[in-house]
Amino acid sequence: MEAYVVEWLGFLGRWFHMIAGIAWIGASFYFIWLDSHLRAPRDADEAERLGIGGEVWALHGGGFYRAQKFAVAPPALPEPLHWFKWEAYTTWLSGMFLLGLVFYLGADVYLLDRAVADLSRPAAVAIGLAFLAGGWLVYDLLCRSPLGAREPLLAAAMLALCALAAYALTNLFSGRGAFIHFGAMLGTIMAANVYFVIMPGQRAMVKASVEGRTPDPSHAARGKQRSVHNTYFTLPVLFTMISNHHALFTNARHAWLVLVAIALAGVFIRLFFTFRHRGIAKPSFWAIGIALLAAVFVALAPRGAGPAAGAATFADVKAIVDLRCAGCHAATPTFAGFAAAPKNVLLDTGERILAQAQRVHQQTVVLKAMPIANLTQMTDEERAKVDAWFRGGAKQD
Ligand code: HEC
Repeated sequence: MEAYVVEWLGFLGRWFHMIAGIAWIGASFYFIWLDSHLRAPRDADEAERLGIGGEVWALHGGGFYRAQKFAVAPPALPEPLHWFKWEAYTTWLSGMFLLGLVFYLGADVYLLDRAVADLSRPAAVAIGLAFLAGGWLVYDLLCRSPLGAREPLLAAAMLALCALAAYALTNLFSGRGAFIHFGAMLGTIMAANVYFVIMPGQRAMVKASVEGRTPDPSHAARGKQRSVHNTYFTLPVLFTMISNHHALFTNARHAWLVLVAIALAGVFIRLFFTFRHRGIAKPSFWAIGIALLAAVFVALAPRGAGPAAGAATFADVKAIVDLRCAGCHAATPTFAGFAAAPKNVLLDTGERILAQAQRVHQQTVVLKAMPIANLTQMTDEERAKVDAWFRGGAKQD
């Protein structure tokens, strides 16, 4: 029953997290796009009178829209004024809920890897949370330091720190645990940017407007800087969210480098688009992003394997799968904590094993991703047997 309830909570949490994330990133992309497309207002008199800095004309869903951005603030604030903050908060809160449910409650399966570091569950949870808080503190300090005014240097410092975090995380947690914490760290920075910098700045601006003072433009500038940073974090964060389904990356030999390379590719691809929206072609950004992905593609490509060690029959393999896999991959799993076969993969009969020979080989021999966290302690000899059988044609004896 407990596993059943956890399964439901996981489903509801994921669904909600996705919806909130789409709303947040969608709004964030839209406003960055809007800023990049601002043109001088057509009505120069009105612009002068109201202090309008730029405007965008658009057509969507059968309606014409005219969005105007004030150089600082409008003379009077109308009601209602939309803030766009709950998208960020609900995304972060649902993400933290999932992190707790999947990775902290299910730490033995998803977070810990004894072959990497022998951590207790409380220690691992504390370390994980420390990365989230620490990431924000360091980033915020850097932004407030003199480096904050020098974007290229700030970017280089952030890259170095992120690489360090990736390296440390992959030496503490399982591959998937490390990747998700890297993403959660960036996601926390994004949400904290909204909560601690953008929102207070906007509140100060609204207060000044209401009191008839000219708002301090430094609030707007700081908010803008953080919101631009956020847009560069989105693609890396989205990558870490799906990375858990790609053991190819999370179980790679130098997983931290793979993580940094793909995250950086995301940053360059996003940079390419933000420039393009301003009418500036930067093909080099796009090329760097693609080159990074291509480098990972080449680095992780399967090398021609030597001859398979020994020989094995289907009976050998079936016995191994029964022992090491079927506890989870059965219609009614017997392994504690699993309410249904993970990813719908069933390996409980001979026919099913034969039909999925390639996947079994891929997960146990090529990626060594299964059994997950090697919870059922599959041995190297057993992996070699699966390999020999598969390369011998995966026949049914
Ligand atoms: C302790 C439970 C457990 C055991 C034991 C286990 N698995 Fe899995 N398996 C999982 C989980 C959880 C997933 C889903 C991972 C994810 O969400 O990406 C999974 C996913 C898979 C997938 C799908 C991978 C994909 O990305 O398409 C395959 C294939 C697989 N397992 C094969 C095996 C084989 C073969 C064994 C035995 C050598 C095995 N598993 C043992 C829990 C287990």
